[in-house]
Amino acid sequence: MCGIVGYVGHRDASDVLVSALTRLEYRGYDSAGIAVFEDGVINVAKSKGKLKDLVEKMDKEGKPKGVAGIGHTRWATHGEPSDINSHPHSGARVTLVHNGIIENYKELKEFLIKDGRRFLSDTDTEVVAQLLDHYYNYISDPIKAIIRTTQDLRGSFALGIVFENYPDTVFAVRRESPLIIGVGKDENFIASDVPAIIKYTKDYYLLEHDEVAVLSADGVKVYDTHYQPVVKTLKTADWDVDAVGKCGYPHYMIKEINEQPTAIRNTVTPRVKDGMPNLEECNITPEALRKIRNIFIVACGTAMHSGMVGKYVMENIARTHVTVDIASEFRYRDPIIGKGDLIIIVSQSGETADSLAAMRLAKQKGAQTLAIVNAMGSTIAREADMLIYTHAGPEISVASTKAYMVQLAVMYLFAFELAFAKGTIDEEKYKYYTSKLLETPDMVQRTIESTTEIAQKISTQLITADSLLYIGRGLDYALSMEGSLKLKEISYIHSESYAAGELKHGTISLITQEMPVIAVATQSALYEKTVSNIKEVKARGAKVIMICKESDDVPGDVADCVLKVLDFEEILLPMLVCVPLQLIAYYTAVQRGNDVDQPRNLAKSVTVE
Ligand code: M6R
Repeated sequence: MCGIVGYVGHRDASDVLVSALTRLEYRGYDSAGIAVFEDGVINVAKSKGKLKDLVEKMDKEGKPKGVAGIGHTRWATHGEPSDINSHPHSGARVTLVHNGIIENYKELKEFLIKDGRRFLSDTDTEVVAQLLDHYYNYISDPIKAIIRTTQDLRGSFALGIVFENYPDTVFAVRRESPLIIGVGKDENFIASDVPAIIKYTKDYYLLEHDEVAVLSADGVKVYDTHYQPVVKTLKTADWDVDAVGKCGYPHYMIKEINEQPTAIRNTVTPRVKDGMPNLEECNITPEALRKIRNIFIVACGTAMHSGMVGKYVMENIARTHVTVDIASEFRYRDPIIGKGDLIIIVSQSGETADSLAAMRLAKQKGAQTLAIVNAMGSTIAREADMLIYTHAGPEISVASTKAYMVQLAVMYLFAFELAFAKGTIDEEKYKYYTSKLLETPDMVQRTIESTTEIAQKISTQLITADSLLYIGRGLDYALSMEGSLKLKEISYIHSESYAAGELKHGTISLITQEMPVIAVATQSALYEKTVSNIKEVKARGAKVIMICKESDDVPGDVADCVLKVLDFEEILLPMLVCVPLQLIAYYTAVQRGNDVDQPRNLAKSVTVE
């Protein structure tokens, strides 16, 4: 979704803004723009397309020159992607950039039109610019005008604002949409996310809902809605510039696949004490776990798929009923939840609109909420009752890989802890599972090394397919869902994942020679059953790629291609098997010449419903 940045300091603001926006490209966008003070006048440059189109335009038409300004990458919501609809937008003396959605923009626009104002774009953002200008006309204090304007707005916003009479000052305010204030030496920043500014500073403030920030080169002031100064706590990002660069990899996605062993280590090791998981620093105690009635795992996309694995594991070893819900369904289906239920919200970004709304609903209904989140200080992380951070570091590729991996790791930690607290596993088993989990970073590393070549070969066979099917049973089915999503989102090949035993009830009619089937069969108890299903699709002409364990003896006529993963504790195998599934998706997309890190129509952080 949209990214916003702002800068005030001593450097060339246009260069800083474009460089910071480059670090937000992962969020997905279709146009870009900046506004910079040039000799006290606000100079705007904007363009449909990518940042390189904006840079080309500025090379031709002149780049705004100055030391303060704001910038934006737009993911169209109101009005098509076009130069006119690109941000920044202006009222007469106010220019701003916006991330979010103004729900009542129509009524505000009608009011402003009646007041004699004219609009150039279709956006809700221009309405905010004109409204702010309207209030600024008779409350000549910019901070008071911002506070008054936000009182009229319904919906979500993070705004970077410049006022004509306040050169070299950047204002910012947010509600729901993320925004951080980067604090440097003689320079300060605003950004939707820390990676945008990490090249310049690691220090930042989190802005709370409706707080107004005022940035100049020599300082940052923050005010609450009563215009009272707010003292902020300085935070420091614990990763370096390499964490947000490609470091020699052709794409972020493959870099992030390779970062998975480190991500697991960083997530699991600090949570293990004396050979056992310990989640007390996350506010999770054995006493609290024993009181849980039902568990609901609620999330979107890949995060929801990690919950599917979590469900199988928790039900299997902790004998606790777990429901997995898509957040956009959960929030509108009046779920039967209340005191005694635990709602686990999983989110990489911690800002996904539906997941956040689902969590708020759960709290309203009296359930306990536990967030499993990667982005530090994000809204979901801040509002949950209990919190487990995954330590994947910044995930830039839109297609989630390392975040999924550490979500799985946390599902296991939590499941082991829950099972032990409930007495469904004894201490010996508890310690055994934990020791196996601690081995996963090395096992994942070995899996990357041992499956890359064959994944490349398999993808060569998939690039011409129009559609394919992933099948599996139990944990393999849960995992196949993620394999299928990964493939479709970056290769643009249609794919579905199906419970292997369900094929006969309809889907098998789709099987032809043209439809490859990726069959995952790693669970011993279900192996024979899945092999029978594989034979059924094979008999109907499908080309079968089978994924199983090294020790499995696969008869020659079962599959056209067999990809074997290392033998390991079976319950933990999803953490290994997701690697070749990620690699197959990656190499298929690369060979089809797609934009792997920024697939079409997708945004990294889905902050609108
Ligand atoms: O930030 P979140 O984990 O809440 O995001 C949820 C989904 O939007 C996300 O997992 C999406 O499905 C990814 N593009 C998958 O690769």
